[in-house]
Amino acid sequence: MRYSRITATGSYLPERVMTNAELEVLVDTSDEWIQARTGIRERHIVRDDESTCDMCEQAALRALEAADIDANTIELIVLATSTPDLIYPSTACLLQHRLGIDNNCAAFDVQAACSGFIYAFSIADKFIASGAVKRALVLGADSNSRILDWSDRGTCVLFGDGAGAMLLEAATEPGIYVTRLHANGAYSSLLQVPSGVSKPTGDPFIRMRGNEVFKFAVNAMGSIVNETLEECGLEKNDIDWLIPHQANQRIIKATAKKLDMTMEKVILTVAEHGNTSGGSIPLALDTGIRDGRIKRGDNLFFEAIGSGFTWGSVVAKY
Ligand code: ACO
Repeated sequence: MRYSRITATGSYLPERVMTNAELEVLVDTSDEWIQARTGIRERHIVRDDESTCDMCEQAALRALEAADIDANTIELIVLATSTPDLIYPSTACLLQHRLGIDNNCAAFDVQAACSGFIYAFSIADKFIASGAVKRALVLGADSNSRILDWSDRGTCVLFGDGAGAMLLEAATEPGIYVTRLHANGAYSSLLQVPSGVSKPTGDPFIRMRGNEVFKFAVNAMGSIVNETLEECGLEKNDIDWLIPHQANQRIIKATAKKLDMTMEKVILTVAEHGNTSGGSIPLALDTGIRDGRIKRGDNLFFEAIGSGFTWGSVVAKY
């Protein structure tokens, strides 16, 4: 039996920080409302000349440096994003070239909005577990500021930009215990960017019925806790860290409660990062590893929900 394990991580946030006070000037909102309803204090925003691939490159270089390996030993790149640089080629292909990888390894993007990293993580794990590859670079990144309507207070206060990268490698003992993926397209109208390539509607911005998304998210994240633990045979108290998608502190608190975890056991970055969609989980993971909270041998519970709706979870030993 082959397994995969996390060997190194890296992340990148754009230099520019936008505070809630700055948003008070743009729309009818307040720092108090944003913090009370979401937990967000500030977010990072890409420069005009900075792209999703640029952020991924920095995150990947940091992961490669942490692992101290040559980029050309990577055998697979899976990159979760909803804000690719181009329609095609994929951002994963652009990144492969940027990193100087010339071994013709497979590289592709995954689109599952805020659940994208969980999808990418699961796909890479399956490639490794099947024996197809031994080392994968898995990324999640989004330039959400490019698809925000800065006059819509219901969305523009929520999102930020950022990227995270993770190296997943073949191992002889379980690193990833279980991955669960779900989708239900019946909910597509509750959270979407209405204008597409084959169906241009003229509205290229995130549109969300926030309260309905919120209710679905709390229920879905609650039920995924039970089904995930049941499948991998772990108990709630076996989990050392919850590393959730960082959309809203209230959704995260509800999931932590379902796991009987105190907020001290949750890697929380939503206050400083906002919702970075595909980037949020790998950014939180890298934060927890680099500040020393997450240690080798810890059991990690990852979960996310996003447009689709898509949702999923991963339980892994670090
Ligand atoms: N500032 C001040 N008031 C606001 C703001 C704002 N930025 N935004 C909305 N309001 C107002 C509303 O207009 C409404 O006013 P009304 O009562 O006069 O009509 C009031 O606040 C309450 O609005 P709700 O939408 O009911 O507020 P809620 O408590 O649900 O919080 C929020 C809104 C923060 C968006 C929440 O619903 C949420 O986090 N939803 C889930 C987001 C999420 O998880 N997304 C999933 C992933 S994203 C992805 O996949 C790309």
